Amino acid sequence: MRKATHPSRDIIESQGVELRGKFIVHCITGSVAAVQSPEIARLLMRHGAEVVAVFSEAAHIIIHPYLMEWATGNSVITELTGAIEHVALAGEHEEKADLILVAPATANTISKIAMGVDDTPVTSTVTTAFGTGIPIMIVPAMHASMYNHPIVRENIKKLEDLGVVFIGPRLEEGKAKIATTKEVVSAIIQKIGAKHDLDKKQFLITAGPTIEYIDPVRIVTSKSSGRMGVELAKAAYARGAKVTLVYGRGSVPPPEGVKVIPVETTQEMVDAVVAELETTKFDVAIAAAAVADWTPKQPRKEKVPTEKTATLSITFQPTPKVVDSIKKKQKTPFLVLFKAEHQVSDDELITRAYARLKTAKADLILANDVGRKGVGFDTETNELFAIDEAKEIIHIPKTSKKKIAHLILDIILKRIGKK
Ligand SMILES: Cc1cc2nc3c(=O)[nH]c(=O)nc-3n(C[C@H](O)[C@H](O)[C@H](O)COP(=O)(O)O)c2cc1C
Repeated sequence: MRKATHPSRDIIESQGVELRGKFIVHCITGSVAAVQSPEIARLLMRHGAEVVAVFSEAAHIIIHPYLMEWATGNSVITELTGAIEHVALAGEHEEKADLILVAPATANTISKIAMGVDDTPVTSTVTTAFGTGIPIMIVPAMHASMYNHPIVRENIKKLEDLGVVFIGPRLEEGKAKIATTKEVVSAIIQKIGAKHDLDKKQFLITAGPTIEYIDPVRIVTSKSSGRMGVELAKAAYARGAKVTLVYGRGSVPPPEGVKVIPVETTQEMVDAVVAELETTKFDVAIAAAAVADWTPKQPRKEKVPTEKTATLSITFQPTPKVVDSIKKKQKTPFLVLFKAEHQVSDDELITRAYARLKTAKADLILANDVGRKGVGFDTETNELFAIDEAKEIIHIPKTSKKKIAHLILDIILKRIGKK
């Protein structure tokens, strides 16, 4: 069955991609300015963001949640349930929001946040976001007399000192009016919008493990989850690149917006890569897949019966090299390789990686020791050495693969200008 798509979502990216891949939680409180919330949410979407609205109880007296459901194409959080929505949105996990926006923010909610009080879906989400370190932006709206209350001002100052960004208000007609929609969205783009430094660049990325069949039901493969390649695809796409991802059997879902070509075996990966290189001129090719290096010489056509087979000998032969097929088809892409070693010294890791860079005629090699804790296969973090052709070595200390993906793109970007 096809997945239903909310018709309101057809405006996503209609005005830009600066917020592509960004997930914004839009908290709405009981101010008349809540009437501007659909416009804010929709302009964020027009710039690529995914928006989920959260209501305080008082927000219901101004607008109906249906309006924000229509505006965002997503269900609205109006109460906290057993699904612990505040943690699902702002807790410490992979799917957490990139930004919490409180627009409009009442005097009441601002002061409660400043006091660490959480007694509405909005304040609970903000409290959770504080602990997680998610950026928080607040757009106040109230009568000037409320805004001029010294404690409200003190609380705003307190929150600013804690790193919360305030947008507006506009002081007009005796009111502290909500900032304009454009002002709010521009401030958000400036705060969390991706750099658009890869616009129109064509990226070919291989990711995930390949599998080789022993017989129709048994395989050999590697422990790769595909996460590093998927994060690279996601990051390149967010920065404006056109991305083709040739994806083996990874356990991490491929990102939205990129062209995904699913493959199983190494030969299928080579064929898919070659087919892409025949039709598209790539600026960058990143071989992040952990291909099965060997394949059974004679895979069995039928399932090997366990009852009659006490021991099983298999002769393996090397699989074709994906990287070599790239260079044969196109000389110009900036070629990036990954090299995995197991429990070697940094010096040894770098020496082996550089030798591989030379034989593969690559431009950059990213070496990691998958024997180290939290590095390499099936982890959310990685630690790498990036070594270029001139043997310039950049150490990327252990951090999330999401962050590493952007650091790798920065390194590539610096070098493609020189090629
Ligand atoms: C029609 C109406 C408009 C309101 N507008 C505002 C406003 O713009 N700013 C504000 O701080 N409070 C405003 N209030 C008061 C808040 O709704 C009230 O303080 C409420 O407790 C806020 O709860 P919340 O912060 O959990 O949303 C308004 C109340 C009503 C009934």
